[in-house]
Amino acid sequence: MLIAQITDMHVKAPGHPAYGRVDTGGYLRRCVDHLNSLQPAPQLVFATGDLVHAGAPEEYAHCRELLAQLRMPCYLLTGNHDDRAGIREAFPGHAYLPQEDEFLHYVVEQGPLRFICLDTLVPGEPWGLMCRERLDWLAERLAEAPSQPTVILMHHPPVSIGIAFMDGHGLDGADAMAEVVAAHSQVQRVLCGHIHRPIQALWAKTMVSVAPSPAHQVVLDLEDRLPGSFIMEPPACHLHFWMPPTGLLTHLSYIGDFDGPHPFRKPVEAAK
Ligand SMILES: [Fe+2]
Repeated sequence: MLIAQITDMHVKAPGHPAYGRVDTGGYLRRCVDHLNSLQPAPQLVFATGDLVHAGAPEEYAHCRELLAQLRMPCYLLTGNHDDRAGIREAFPGHAYLPQEDEFLHYVVEQGPLRFICLDTLVPGEPWGLMCRERLDWLAERLAEAPSQPTVILMHHPPVSIGIAFMDGHGLDGADAMAEVVAAHSQVQRVLCGHIHRPIQALWAKTMVSVAPSPAHQVVLDLEDRLPGSFIMEPPACHLHFWMPPTGLLTHLSYIGDFDGPHPFRKPVEAAK
């Protein structure tokens, strides 16, 4: 089973580049084309937050138009740039989004895997939060299926990642969440976004994987030399491949046109 993860698309209204220079809509269009061309095709896509840049209705309309071209279902999570009401209004056909609950958290069952999608949004703030209410909801969902392989998805990583600018916008409540997650051995992975870089770390007896953006990346500044900055390193997404007996594998998939493929060996000459 193959699952795609895209994150931090930061779509703006057409003709309005992010930060005055990044055509995030164009990058998402190429990402969608990339996902549609993969063989085998992913069975579903998770978009782990920062779907748009400023939570505006015209941004969500553009994002919806671009994601509508995907040939597989796409599940939406909130990021710090998102707006819960804006997502609900722009994607009325996404029936998995709770209408009554304040938080946009839900469970997706696909094949042998169970996906628990969390909402770490604090409106108007760059940092995220797992408050008591959200932690209790997570604990209840984990208790429902203790022997089913489970993947948790959330925008803000629950670990510090070594880039000071981003660690200043981390996840409050991560220690309490670690206690909940560590008590459930079925958790195969915690899939995140927010950092605009591919990162892996062990945490709470499982593994945190952070996916890069299909648009701009955050500068890899481990010595806090620069003000928070982005860089146009190659756009990419993550492909999570469930392959027993290994379990869940994660492949980084670059988006673009590259020279190749070239066979390592010349084809055997036909017998004369
Ligand atoms: Fe982002």
